Amino acid sequence: MMSFPDNFLWGGATSNAQYEGAFDLDGRGKSQLDYINYIAKDELDEHTIIPEVEYDRFVKLIENEDAFNFPLRRGSDFYHHYKEDIALFAEMGFKVFRMSISWCRLYPSGLEDHPNQAGVNFYHRVFQELHKYGIEPLVTMAHYEIPIALTKKYNGWESPKVIDLYVKFTKTLLDEYKDEVKYWITFNEINMMLMSLWNGGGMFGARAKKDIPSLKHQALHHQFVASALTVKYAHEHAPNCQIGCMINRIECYPYTCKPEDAQATLLEDQLNMYFYDVMAGGYYPKRILRYFKEHHIQIDYVDGFEEILKENTVDFLSFSYYLSNVISAEKQGDKEAGIFVKELRNPYLKYSEWGWNIDAIGLRIALNKVYDRYRLPIFVVENGLGAHDIFENGTVHDEYRIAYLREHIKAIGEAIDDRVEVMGYTPWGCIDIVSAGSVEMSKRYGFIYVDADDEGNGTYQRYKKDSFYWYQTVISSNGEKLD
Ligand code: BG6
Repeated sequence: MMSFPDNFLWGGATSNAQYEGAFDLDGRGKSQLDYINYIAKDELDEHTIIPEVEYDRFVKLIENEDAFNFPLRRGSDFYHHYKEDIALFAEMGFKVFRMSISWCRLYPSGLEDHPNQAGVNFYHRVFQELHKYGIEPLVTMAHYEIPIALTKKYNGWESPKVIDLYVKFTKTLLDEYKDEVKYWITFNEINMMLMSLWNGGGMFGARAKKDIPSLKHQALHHQFVASALTVKYAHEHAPNCQIGCMINRIECYPYTCKPEDAQATLLEDQLNMYFYDVMAGGYYPKRILRYFKEHHIQIDYVDGFEEILKENTVDFLSFSYYLSNVISAEKQGDKEAGIFVKELRNPYLKYSEWGWNIDAIGLRIALNKVYDRYRLPIFVVENGLGAHDIFENGTVHDEYRIAYLREHIKAIGEAIDDRVEVMGYTPWGCIDIVSAGSVEMSKRYGFIYVDADDEGNGTYQRYKKDSFYWYQTVISSNGEKLD
């Protein structure tokens, strides 16, 4: 079995903020992510591991920027290494490369009438380089990022004004690149808003006019409308493109077989998937409207939103999948899995060094569940193992990463045999990049090692890990040779 279709899109995934660097070159503005500073693990405490930048802390950061270490500003310097990196991706046999475009490289403050031409040209050069090797770009329009000027002026996605500014940006993308980019995703992990105001919406909780749950769902409402308007424009002006949406899928298991736990798990699932209901189904499900009511969540709906959502649904679904979760009706998650997710420990699973459980079966379940519900093709656009690598003699022997990916690829193969339509697989951080959750280089996912540390020391030279050669064989055998 394990029949990956001939046109299966094997590749890898990155995001501009974590990879690109060159934060102050060629007219780029700054984003809210440029203001997340690195904090060493031994200095982390209960407050600092929550990645919300509150207003006082932000003021301190901007008053004294030079005193802080901002790894996301450096990324792994794709800006200057793109030719070399793309050649390495081609050597692995990539058919697709997932990347994102920096909003503030094109519209430095988000408010300009015309895009920054140097930024526009950079991405043309990248796409040309990819096509030289027959690699199809898969582009996320906004990977968590928003120009910091919009955070300052509007408190980010809290304001409906940001909808038009985002749509101005995405129209530019479609007009400029529609002949170079076939696959698009409007927002990275749109449900991240529920976990982080800063990453998801570029918002200060303290400055909001609403309570936090209402603020999150208000900002999401704005993103849903912005996404649908982008889909509309793509369908009208770039008919050869396919445009999708994305969530962070966390497969949920009941803590016990008590019906209360099963019910709580169902709700968790509905909350995780209602994003698809809105963007692929075109409506807010009634169960979620009831949830809003029960939790006193107040949303000021944009005029005409029902029609906008209904008429502009996406062409495909995508998700990131890293871990599963255990849900109890009584117990709260007591352990931070990485940074964003609170979870109850699952005794049947192994855990990564960052406390993320490893659950390949959950991926097969997720693919089946999502497909059964929406019957749309699914792209697995993120998955992978963040680990400390030991770099010796110009390489890394990362058999742990190979073991992780092997099991997840098998799970995708099983799902395909279950008749799920899977478009492709782009493991996360195919080259080492800065972690989004812990803002460090030390948490590495790549097939390619980048010689840089958390402080930005290093040559930034690229080296092939053992997993590089392994993945090359996986791709050339179309998923048949996994050992
Ligand atoms: C996903 C994000 O949630 O997880 C990526 O889309 C992120 O941006 C990835 O890098 C892995 O998380 P982390 O915290 O290990 O970088």
